[in-house]
Amino acid sequence: MKPLIFVDRRLPQNVQRYLEEHCSVLTWKPEEKRDETRLQAYLTEVEGYFTSGAMKVTEALLDAAPKLKVISTMSVGYNHFDVQAMRTRGIIGTHTPYVLDDSVADLIVGLMLSTARRITELDRYIRQGHWKGNEGRKLFGLDVHHQKLGIIGMGRIGEVVAKRAKFGFDMEVSYYNRSRKQALEHNLGIEYKRLDQLLQESDFVVLLTPLTPETKGLIGTEQFSMMKQNAIFINASRGATVDEQALIDALRNDTIAGAGLDVFMQEPLPEQHPFLELERVVMTPHIGSATEGTRDQMAMLAAHNLVHALLGTGEAHIVPELAQ
Ligand code: DGY
Repeated sequence: MKPLIFVDRRLPQNVQRYLEEHCSVLTWKPEEKRDETRLQAYLTEVEGYFTSGAMKVTEALLDAAPKLKVISTMSVGYNHFDVQAMRTRGIIGTHTPYVLDDSVADLIVGLMLSTARRITELDRYIRQGHWKGNEGRKLFGLDVHHQKLGIIGMGRIGEVVAKRAKFGFDMEVSYYNRSRKQALEHNLGIEYKRLDQLLQESDFVVLLTPLTPETKGLIGTEQFSMMKQNAIFINASRGATVDEQALIDALRNDTIAGAGLDVFMQEPLPEQHPFLELERVVMTPHIGSATEGTRDQMAMLAAHNLVHALLGTGEAHIVPELAQ
């Protein structure tokens, strides 16, 4: 008999077909209210749960799902998993590394360029009819090429960003990470720095750490005060790795020059959020991996992970904390 699974999002047709070949698939009904109570009801009988990460995997959710064996998230980040509670119950958690590295790196470079060269701000400037042709230095921005880039969190995506920066923009690249990556330093010609040193010396600071209890609020008032006044800060990790109020203050007080943000404490960003009034912030709505090609690959990888882990028929990308 095929195992019963619940899928919490619409999937590309080929992915849906693949899942249906191997599993009996439940999903939300159209018009149904998608809340935790309803989700718990669906999970009562299932062995597998395919999630987009929109709802947190809590102890309460797991308690309501006694038959659950595998949770597959269609994301590389899995901070919505309660890994401790999953480990206690012997539930496997999988995620989608590798396939999104290039797309996320592209977006990060886009945020660096947009912020430094004020692309979105000056697009608004033209649309609002301000361009008179006599602006002088008023529209000048900052260079990206040949500047110093500091990457906090040197995982797979960090490595791809470093390559683009080093070989595409002739940047001087350094990184801070829990563990040193000497082979990478050698191969790419990048330098390891202490966090305080990286913050003091970089023109661009890119934050890429996963959200864990150790990285929550990693960048706050003290860290912003160490940065150069012309520094641009990019966050493509998770909103909670940064103290947002400290970032708002740093921008208002000209402690740093700008910020490019793809992730926020609260998503979608609430109306009236102070970021909306800050001209030197470029924002994207958590779209690091959101290209058609990459999202399709992530959906298929998450489906393979779920089927392989449930049926034991192949490799599944189990999240590191649960793989040990
Ligand atoms: C992920 O996969 O964790 C990304 O944040 C999605 O864009």
